[in-house]
Amino acid sequence: MTNPDEHMIIALDGPAASGKGTLAKNLAMALNFRHMDTGALYRASAYEVLQNQGDPSREDDALAGCNTLKSKILGAENLNDVLGNPDLRKDETGTAASKLAAIPAAREALKSIQIDFAHEQKQGYGGVILDGRDIGTVICPNAHLKLYIEADTEVRAKRRLKELQSKGLDVTYSAVFAEMRERDARDTQRDTAPLHAASDAIMINTSHLSEEEVLSKALSCVREIRHS
Ligand code: DC
Repeated sequence: MTNPDEHMIIALDGPAASGKGTLAKNLAMALNFRHMDTGALYRASAYEVLQNQGDPSREDDALAGCNTLKSKILGAENLNDVLGNPDLRKDETGTAASKLAAIPAAREALKSIQIDFAHEQKQGYGGVILDGRDIGTVICPNAHLKLYIEADTEVRAKRRLKELQSKGLDVTYSAVFAEMRERDARDTQRDTAPLHAASDAIMINTSHLSEEEVLSKALSCVREIRHS
């Protein structure tokens, strides 16, 4: 394992709308670390499948989507050029991503991008943060810090509803809640790399915490590692 003072790897896992994405961005800013939203890789692969009228639950369609994404990433100046498409944030893309993510060959196809990102030390940055579902368990089992971010399902559904409504989408709480339960079930019950906390992860429940409070908890975990 690398020296955390030279290159610290932070793994953030948790279910949809738990607050891990917001925490990842805030932590990256506060620490000057690079950040990879690994869910965006699954979303972008699934988006390619949908664009080609494919089925993200079929292995051949899913793999074709992952391979198209990988070649786009290789040809891009930076990751954001490929992963910044706002259509990736749509709920239908999230659902398709969750279906694609249950296919072992698709997970394997996206693995090296994440592992390479985690271990590449770039000048000017103190480390990396990856957020997703299997970062602490599969992608970076040796991460210096593993945080498992959770929140009650009702709270997560309300957050997602607010996000979708702010984009002008006509959605109901009950539809968002049902979709979230379905996605949680798929992400936690799949055979390969299901969502669960690593045994050495620190749990943070964000249900009743502000963005700043969550960041402050995470930063104190980072300080402990630096001083240990
Ligand atoms: O975090 P998100 O909602 O953007 O992720 C979309 C889907 O991608 C999610 O339902 C499950 C899958 N995913 C995964 O299986 N493993 C990851 N490391 C990240 C996301």
